[in-house]
Amino acid sequence: MSLTQKIELPTVTYEQPLGLFINNEFVKGEKGQTIDVINPATEEVITKVHEATKEDVDRAVKVARETYNKVWKDTTANERGRLLFKLADLIERDLLILASIESLDNGKSISMAKGDVAAVAGCIRYYAGWADKIHGKVVETDAHKFNYTKIEPIGVVGQIIPWNFPLLMFAWKIGPALATGNTVVLKTAEQTPLSALYAAKLVKEAGFPAGVLNVLSGYGKTAGQAIAEHMDIDKIAFTGSTGVGREILKASANSNLKKVTLELGGKSPNVVFADADIEAAIDWANFGVFFNHGQTCCAGTRIFVQETIYDKFIETFKAKAEKNAVGDPFHDKTFQGPQVSKVQFDRIMGYIDQGKECGAKLVCGGGRKGDKGYFIEPTIFADCKADMTIMKEEIFGPVAAIAKFKDIDDLVHMANDTSYGLAAGVHTKDLKTAITVADKLKAGTVWINQYNALHHALPFGGYKESGIGRELGKAALANYTQVKTVSINLEGHPSGW
Ligand code: NAI
Ligand code: MG
Repeated sequence: MSLTQKIELPTVTYEQPLGLFINNEFVKGEKGQTIDVINPATEEVITKVHEATKEDVDRAVKVARETYNKVWKDTTANERGRLLFKLADLIERDLLILASIESLDNGKSISMAKGDVAAVAGCIRYYAGWADKIHGKVVETDAHKFNYTKIEPIGVVGQIIPWNFPLLMFAWKIGPALATGNTVVLKTAEQTPLSALYAAKLVKEAGFPAGVLNVLSGYGKTAGQAIAEHMDIDKIAFTGSTGVGREILKASANSNLKKVTLELGGKSPNVVFADADIEAAIDWANFGVFFNHGQTCCAGTRIFVQETIYDKFIETFKAKAEKNAVGDPFHDKTFQGPQVSKVQFDRIMGYIDQGKECGAKLVCGGGRKGDKGYFIEPTIFADCKADMTIMKEEIFGPVAAIAKFKDIDDLVHMANDTSYGLAAGVHTKDLKTAITVADKLKAGTVWINQYNALHHALPFGGYKESGIGRELGKAALANYTQVKTVSINLEGHPSGW
């Protein structure tokens, strides 16, 4: 099978790399296996990419280790920043190509995909700026000692990313890892390998030394597991399901205790108080749950509405959701494309069936849209109770669950009644209510009068079972660095000896 293929799309025609990206070259997998790449809007196979197995992970780690020791460790921070700035420029240059790849492979609408790619460039540029601004400290203890700390890279980093934001997760991972001086072996999700391979081509064009960043297409149970268990990977960063997050921790414990950061699922509350700007709150609630087809870890899937506006809210929200344009990802006006895969489609339809059976009120949607492609109608359930599965488990699709609350105490109890803690939204015009509730919610991010408002400068990550560590912002630098303390004795012997 070849290493590249010309792909023609409604927006662009381009050359798609298909190989594993190791040592700045696209190569075949050792075992010669491939992965079918599927267009979720048509259910057709677009192409095949070369599949990485354990042998390829070993090969990539060896290259990443040698590059770390011989090249990257001695590359100045200033140069690391320059390369990342260059990469961000190239991503912007090829924004339409990259956005089109996301629409093709993931199914996200082209307008949202363009937003994703712009955010990718923004994120990489943000970490480019950090590269030469990471310093240790002088720590004064007493007159006979001179102490300082150094902020050092960790070494070879393994990164495993999901399919919901294929290129954005790539950026969140490689930005801070490369800025801080690590080398990387990154595995994409088997459902969406294409955009990171194209971006790898840009990494080479930007002038990064061979072996600094290696990108593998592969399955979780084989290539992913091999990364998690590897004895020569010093740190692993993972985004995906809570179940696999646990496996990653176990693999670290059973191998070399590589440092672990996890960004996992959520069942985030989005709260609407009676005094909120209702029209705006409904727009944010709609965007909060249906953005990216509901395939968003921080999606505001549990919507809590104060009782005095409950009926009105549901009626207006229904009207809004029914107007969401669901269809061809390449159509400019499309808001919601297909779910990423048959597996996810079936999983979500299973949750919708449970919702219908458990006594929740189906307000709208609840079915498949069309007969080809993994499209699902925007679905809203109301009168949801805490013990219903649709209120407890992450559905990861266009499904909202609405419940009623009375006052702040009632709300806080309901909102925190979950094993997750990734994000939350609060809609109110009262500053005291906003700040009080934000303080009481157990979530890594609380959005006031907005939702899904991520920004590369703002730390993002989970309380409770939503994860370990924070991505984005300055906080992410800590994931990829370790502190060395150097203490110099200026005079004196061990006291008393
Ligand atoms: P997943 O957790 O299986 O996949 C995420 C990544 O982990 C992929 O790259 C996959 O190849 C890899 N992986 C899978 N098993 C692995 C293993 N044993 N060792 C190492 N890597 C492994 O998620 P999946 O099955 O695609 O989606 C299932 C559910 O997970 C979704 O319905 C959603 O609830 C949640 N999810 C959450 C995401 C988030 O952004 N937090 C992203 C994707 C999924
Ligand atoms: Mg695909």
